[in-house]
Amino acid sequence: MNKDKTILLVEDEQIAFHTILETLDFYNYRCHGVTTLQEALEIIKKVPFDLILADYMLPDGTCLELLDAVRKFRFDLPFVVITASDDTEIIHKALDRGASDFLKKPFNLKNLPSIIERNLERRRLEQKKNSPQKATVLLKTIKALIAALEAKDPYTSGHSLRVARHARMMAIALDLSEEEQFTLELAAILHDIGKIGMPDYILNKASHLHELEYRIAKEHPIVGSNIVGKIDELKEVAAIIRHHHERFDGSGYPDGLQGEVIPRLARILTIVDAYESIVSRRVYRDAKSSEEALHELAKSAGTQFDPELVKVFNAVMHSELAGKKMRLKIEDFTDISDT
Ligand SMILES: [Fe+2]
Repeated sequence: MNKDKTILLVEDEQIAFHTILETLDFYNYRCHGVTTLQEALEIIKKVPFDLILADYMLPDGTCLELLDAVRKFRFDLPFVVITASDDTEIIHKALDRGASDFLKKPFNLKNLPSIIERNLERRRLEQKKNSPQKATVLLKTIKALIAALEAKDPYTSGHSLRVARHARMMAIALDLSEEEQFTLELAAILHDIGKIGMPDYILNKASHLHELEYRIAKEHPIVGSNIVGKIDELKEVAAIIRHHHERFDGSGYPDGLQGEVIPRLARILTIVDAYESIVSRRVYRDAKSSEEALHELAKSAGTQFDPELVKVFNAVMHSELAGKKMRLKIEDFTDISDT
């Protein structure tokens, strides 16, 4: 029943490690177990966990370091801290940094499923709370912000809105919920907002960027997600912005997340953003045709992009292009008949 939920256990004490893993397996959770902070920091970039259960004291640090790393890209992932200590300072520190719950050692293993379920349920409720209506009022301000960014960089003028249009087409093709659709569209509109803090000469540079300039340019997903993340209702949008330059094979930035650990909406945004950039004229190169752009995306499916989503985008764009050709034919026909 719970096989669709994946849990990470970080515990260095051998007996606790094995008994917790066995219990989770008994209650049908899929579970990965690691014993050090380093291993945990690695695996969270590769496996899309639904909940983390971590012992406070680990051989190479405390689970607070793991919590900090997780909160950078999974702001809503339930994180339960296991601790043998009664120290309220530890509890306060962990809560301050975004821990969702505590398990005091020793604990009754039978209680594990209800602790896990209560944290998963809390997350579901919080996701529901972020209704599209709350964010709607912000839309106008956001568009003004985008206009300010595009005034700085004429070559990307209209880019965000075109990306949002294609994102909407993907959302419909993938049958995303109304909330997801709205989140994706907002993230698409705002994805490059972090460039607002970038020096103009880097933004508009026609030649190759030097290493330092490139490093500054690569900051924009973090800057953007920090700006947007200040608004509580837009935390999820902020996470998508942070990850719109991650690559499916894990070699992207800023966090080097891999495969399905990259939020799905960010994987969609990466594809539509790349497509839009290829078909637009940029300061450093000419525009390419839609067919060429789709070909480039297909070549990077599995390395840069989620291969399944590239297939969907390809189908969406082909039906869009076919529709355009059809409309052109009808217009041609109307022209002839008018003369
Ligand atoms: Fe970007």
